[in-house]
Amino acid sequence: LEKIAYVNGSYVPLSEAKVSVLDRGFLFADGIYEVAAVLDGKLIDNASHLARLERSVGEIRLELPETTARIQEIQQELVTRNQLVNGMVYLEVTRGADTGRDFAFPKGVKPTLVMFTAEKDIVGAPSARTGINVITVPDIRWERRDIKSVALLAQVLAKQAAAEAGAGEAWMIQDGKVTEGGSSSAFILTQDDVIVTRQNGSEILPGCTRKAVVALAEERQLRVEERAFSIEEALAAKEAFITSATVFVQGVVAIDGRKVGNGKPGPLTDRLREIYVEFAKATAV
Ligand code: PDD
Repeated sequence: LEKIAYVNGSYVPLSEAKVSVLDRGFLFADGIYEVAAVLDGKLIDNASHLARLERSVGEIRLELPETTARIQEIQQELVTRNQLVNGMVYLEVTRGADTGRDFAFPKGVKPTLVMFTAEKDIVGAPSARTGINVITVPDIRWERRDIKSVALLAQVLAKQAAAEAGAGEAWMIQDGKVTEGGSSSAFILTQDDVIVTRQNGSEILPGCTRKAVVALAEERQLRVEERAFSIEEALAAKEAFITSATVFVQGVVAIDGRKVGNGKPGPLTDRLREIYVEFAKATAV
């Protein structure tokens, strides 16, 4: 059964889902994307993803071609059409296809909106149990990482380096501190039981999963500090983990080949993962 994608108002087989070579997403990475997880056929924390989408497009002065309510309907329609049980819905909006290649915004051009789905067993993934290794790379990205833009070349290179090193993620380093993972937020648990993750700002993407995990931890009276941390601090920590829509909460068991804690996902990581999955199921749409 071929999967269906959504392209500018139409549902088409994925292999026939195409945009113009003049699309500004293709030419300039002039576009924004979102990834929302799907669990048991429902969207996870989607209001948070749609709020970030609105913020991202606002920051680059791009108008959504549909309301967020309509976008959610399309996401749900795709999940239904593709009989998606567990996985994710990808969506991308670009400043559309003009008649040439002018850098400045085109006039009277409708934004491109595309969506497709992918299957992934997030809850049952083996790496959820085993944790992952990470490597470190310099953070060579631009200065507006709070915008979820499709300009992901730095992350592509970082995650390729990780893959070649047999690692599941790359932690990006700026001024001696971890910014975030190539496609995830970074956390540690210090020896005195403080959960530390970098504060939001232009240096990182404000992760939806990060936000939920911080709130869930605080509701349970766990101590959370939002500040930058170094690799030395991470290596001295009790636990380390990452969060994202596509992994939820996942233990980090080694950094650049050096063990974190006892080299296994820690108890707090496991607990936060369970708490997050419970929250995800309870708020799914
Ligand atoms: N990435 N930081 C970066 C740089 C990211 O690309 C992502 C998500 C996150 C985590 O955000 P969230 O919890 O909202 O998924 C943090 C998505 C999953 C991706 O590019 O595939």
